[in-house]
Amino acid sequence: MKAALLDRYGGNDAIRIADIPAPSIGASDLGVEVRAASVNPLDVKIRSGQVKVVLKYRLPLVMGNDLSGVVTQVGANVRRFRVGDEIYARLDKDRIGAFAQFAAVRESDAALKPANVTFEQAASLPLVALTAWQALVEIGNVQPGQRVLIHAGSGGVGSIAIQLAHHLGATVLTTVGQRNIELVRRLGADVAIDYRASRFEDLARDCDLVLDSAGGETLVRSFACVKRGGVVVSIGSTPSAAFARQWGMNPLLVFAIGLMSRKVTAAARARGARYEYLFMHPDGEQLARIAQRVEAGTLVPLVTPPVQRGRVLATENVFIGASNELGAFESGVAGQLLGVTGAVALGGVATLVVVVLWWVLFPALRDVNRFSDVAAPALPTSEP
Ligand SMILES: NC(=O)c1ccc[n+]([C@@H]2O[C@H](COP(=O)([O-])OP(=O)(O)OC[C@H]3O[C@@H](n4cnc5c(N)ncnc54)[C@H](OP(=O)(O)O)[C@@H]3O)[C@@H](O)[C@H]2O)c1
Repeated sequence: MKAALLDRYGGNDAIRIADIPAPSIGASDLGVEVRAASVNPLDVKIRSGQVKVVLKYRLPLVMGNDLSGVVTQVGANVRRFRVGDEIYARLDKDRIGAFAQFAAVRESDAALKPANVTFEQAASLPLVALTAWQALVEIGNVQPGQRVLIHAGSGGVGSIAIQLAHHLGATVLTTVGQRNIELVRRLGADVAIDYRASRFEDLARDCDLVLDSAGGETLVRSFACVKRGGVVVSIGSTPSAAFARQWGMNPLLVFAIGLMSRKVTAAARARGARYEYLFMHPDGEQLARIAQRVEAGTLVPLVTPPVQRGRVLATENVFIGASNELGAFESGVAGQLLGVTGAVALGGVATLVVVVLWWVLFPALRDVNRFSDVAAPALPTSEP
């Protein structure tokens, strides 16, 4: 099969398309023919080696965390799926490999794909929707009437988190760039704060939960927004010492992370609030619950607009193309791309450059123009 292999940590040139054997599947695995895979900021961090302290991969590595596809094989112990089922999954962090024609997917990490969305839309969901679910439901237990602040509401995680918090009955506040204010309102945000024009802590007070995706100063300042007894969940750059311990990091690293996060710990203590660092995990049952909400129209996947996907696919080497896009994201250009194209297609999610693998890997179907036919989904406008 064809797969996108990372030979060494680095830039785009570290990735090549190679012919390798399809992965063998274990007794609890599904063999899946990949139909679509999405690119997340995590893929960039893996490519560059930024997360190699926590994610220790042996290279060469087949890239890709999120996929949708069709089950072609089932292991002897598999009970919930059959050959022919259409599924979606976030692969286990130790067994990634979505940027390939076939992938081995642990049964417990997969769920049936929501029936009302395309493979591309389904592939855009697992990592970001599970992150939102785990922050708001698993950690936050968000209840109707609570106040929730979601940073970066127009991003991959934020755009789903807004919809989920709204669905849970919370009052949703969000930080967003000016050009995406209309988008986040349509997603269900009650208060949209332009983070360049205002200090969010002056406008977002007494929140029960804050979801931070930036870390650093944004995370520290977020404690001013949370009420006593509330929680700040961060998926950004500052893990907690408790997280490091839980992940079995060596005591020196735990100590170092404790030192690095001392400002955050102090801010939490001063506020009488909880601080939780989340590194999302795959979970097929949660994905099944997310699929129900997608089918009910409560959660709508947003996919990077056609123009950008066209650009990705127009390159000869799709994976390098995708990485180029992500290189831009790292330097903040993504917001601009998003703003311009978002106006055309109901906004976009900068991280979710959907790479339609089977189009890429089967040249006969490689017709970039067909992407411009992909319509932006209708967004939920009222309580389900
Ligand atoms: N720990 C985990 O398990 C986990 C899981 C998922 C993601 N993450 C991490 O979380 C981060 C966000 O992921 P994502 O997929 O949502 O990224 P994304 O789609 O690239 O979203 C980034 C968004 O951030 C907004 N933004 C930039 N600066 C901001 C600021 N100062 N305040 C508020 N918003 C700002 C931009 O919105 P505008 O265009 O509106 O300005 C942009 O759309 C990434 O670093 C990712 O690696 C971690």
